[in-house]
Amino acid sequence: MTLKETKNTYDKFGKVYHKKRHNPKENFYNEYLEMPAISSLLKNIVKKKKVLDLGCGSGIFSKKLRSWGAKVTGIDLSKTLINIAQKENPEINFFVGNAEKTKFKNKEFDIVVSGLMLHYLKNLKKSFLEVSRILKNDGLFVFSMNHPVREAVEGKIVKNKKVYFLKDYFKNKRTEWTMPPGITVVNYHHTFEEIVNTLNDAGFVVERLIEAKPVKGSEKYSKKDFELNMEYPSFLVIKAKKIK
Ligand SMILES: C[S@@+](CC[C@H](N)C(=O)[O-])C[C@H]1O[C@@H](n2cnc3c(N)ncnc32)[C@H](O)[C@@H]1O
Repeated sequence: MTLKETKNTYDKFGKVYHKKRHNPKENFYNEYLEMPAISSLLKNIVKKKKVLDLGCGSGIFSKKLRSWGAKVTGIDLSKTLINIAQKENPEINFFVGNAEKTKFKNKEFDIVVSGLMLHYLKNLKKSFLEVSRILKNDGLFVFSMNHPVREAVEGKIVKNKKVYFLKDYFKNKRTEWTMPPGITVVNYHHTFEEIVNTLNDAGFVVERLIEAKPVKGSEKYSKKDFELNMEYPSFLVIKAKKIK
């Protein structure tokens, strides 16, 4: 899937996506897995900081960042999602833009945040270099993405039980998946080695890493998703510091 296809998909399904993303009951993965993990690294450090939400979608996390005192800007490929974000958050500046080449000035931000966007990119190098360019020295890049294991597991029924096997871990493959109500997107698998070394080559060191687990008590929203995510990780969250 090219950037254009990702953009067209989110432009077409943006309103439906936002509705689903906005409803905690329909949204176990964002609400009880990814957002709590990335929030734990950001909540106490963003106050009064200039923060860019890269791949901000309809601005749901941008709004949280602002509520914690950050001076937030958001960009996303999809015009539909940016329009929703802007309408719901008139006090935040949102722009349509590509994470691999933005219009921001060198060293413009204290922190760049990116939630579940990087696995849309086939190659991580361009976006990591771009984030490094727009971050101040000692700036932080805090992001979540599909866990390298998630893209490489395959479920099979063995003796009436679904069992997960690791498959093609080292293959830089693309996975196509469809979220209700039929929004098909393409994600790319990136290994740990690729993620950490590409970060390092772009001038970052990893300060903290989280393999997200569901929050306590969330089994009442979806027992199936809770149990699955206590068994193997879906999301990786990294806090990296720009050191050169
Ligand atoms: C799963 S959504 C996450 C949205 C948002 N971060 C959130 O947590 O609600 C992925 C988003 O990444 C955006 N995206 C994908 N590739 C992008 C790129 N190259 N530049 C900017 N945004 C991109 C998509 O348009 C989509 O809004």
